[in-house]
Amino acid sequence: MADARFRWGMWLGALGLAFVAAPAAAQSQPAQVTFTKDVAPIFQKACESCHRKDSIGPMSLVTYEESRPWARSIKSRVAARQMPPWHIDKNVGIQHFANDRSLTDTEISTIIKWVDAGAPKGDMKDMPAPVQWPSDQDWNFAKTYGKPDLIIKSPKYTMPAQAQDAWYKPVVPTGITEARYVRAIEMRPGSVRGRKITHHALARLQQTEESSTTATPNNGDDPGPGLFMEWAVGKQGEVARENSGKLMLPGSSIVWDIHYHAVGEEITDEVEMAIYFYPKGQEPKFRQMLSLYSGIAGGNRNLDIAPNSMSVTQNFHVMRKAGRIENFQPHMHLRGKAMSMEAILPNGQTQMLSMVSNYNFNWHTNYVYADDYAPLLPKGTVLRITSWHDNTKNNPNNPDPNQWVGWGDRTVDEMAHAWVNITYMDDADFKVEVDKRKAKLAGTTSDRQQ
Ligand code: HEC
Repeated sequence: MADARFRWGMWLGALGLAFVAAPAAAQSQPAQVTFTKDVAPIFQKACESCHRKDSIGPMSLVTYEESRPWARSIKSRVAARQMPPWHIDKNVGIQHFANDRSLTDTEISTIIKWVDAGAPKGDMKDMPAPVQWPSDQDWNFAKTYGKPDLIIKSPKYTMPAQAQDAWYKPVVPTGITEARYVRAIEMRPGSVRGRKITHHALARLQQTEESSTTATPNNGDDPGPGLFMEWAVGKQGEVARENSGKLMLPGSSIVWDIHYHAVGEEITDEVEMAIYFYPKGQEPKFRQMLSLYSGIAGGNRNLDIAPNSMSVTQNFHVMRKAGRIENFQPHMHLRGKAMSMEAILPNGQTQMLSMVSNYNFNWHTNYVYADDYAPLLPKGTVLRITSWHDNTKNNPNNPDPNQWVGWGDRTVDEMAHAWVNITYMDDADFKVEVDKRKAKLAGTTSDRQQ
């Protein structure tokens, strides 16, 4: 009863508002939201990288004529924050990323208003100049760093028209003869057709390291050279933060892990990676290493997800050296629901660094922190990785909620780990970095006050 009255009250309230709002709207004559003036700039910035001819999106959103038929679907995907794909929780943790492709609340409401108004075209003279997307033949960072120093390709792979997903894992020697620091990496499918079948590609750097003192050796945390670069739909490349880079040693190899999926036509392709080294004599001071931080205490076999249930697992990783956390990239499969990364500082204080709360297996997004927000954490910090799996029928990606699920490679098995890149430093350098950060952020605050 109370509930009914409450809803009735709400309804009256809404009606009242509408009466008040109508004359105000008539007076100020708010400009109509149109495609050419308001929506096209948003699509250029946030959608065209994937939604243009021959890219990975199912349709082009470049012109009005191409976008108009999708208006309703656009509204629902954008309102639910499913497009553009960006699954970081907006309510907790760090919110400044170098590669944030999410829309602002204002952009979302502009798109919704446009669709609600009947998706009008507007005046062609408001249309922004078309974006010149780089040619498929060019490497993007070549403009900044000159020609890539090294290009490594995976062997060609043929994906039949119809087949189950394939994970292709060939090993290709880098062929380098001296140690080099890497400052930028780009990766891409070798052809436009190849983009259709290439879901994502990982390149792991395999090399023999002398020793590693950075993490706990006994629980799989030992950070090796690790993952070198990951390419997934919509991603171009990675540039190392100033004065840091990955070290590539003579005798190293790239271990590819390419996820192909069939698209109804037979396609043969390769994945290619361009590597830009720091010039000799300009080596960076800090080395970045990538760790696989498990979210399952006691080993992968402890992942034990009962049918029709939710499950939560957690694991802890000690930082043996101070460092800067560069990114957060959760990895789970179809039952993956959420993952968080927290820092438990030596003084006992806990900080939520990042949380992905609506994980989607189709999007292996690497959330790269913005320069001034990448967490600087002292030696002895514990990173706590928590992961949630949803093995119920409420999970739309769940192939079968009646199955027990454990750890494994197949998409129908599960995993729970985060790929985390850390730039390690000794305590003196760490202090310098912390002081620099403090000075910079203090500067920003006073700028804002002026
Ligand atoms: C990183 C690449 C990427 C970006 C950026 C992106 N999309 Fe998508 N979009 C895709 C892919 C791939 C699909 C198909 C798979 C899926 O539905 O998730 C898709 C699907 C969609 C669909 C569903 C189409 C249907 O079948 O109904 C809509 C609508 C859409 N995108 C709109 C947008 C809009 C609007 C933006 C920008 C505000 C955007 N997308 C940004 C890659 C992207």
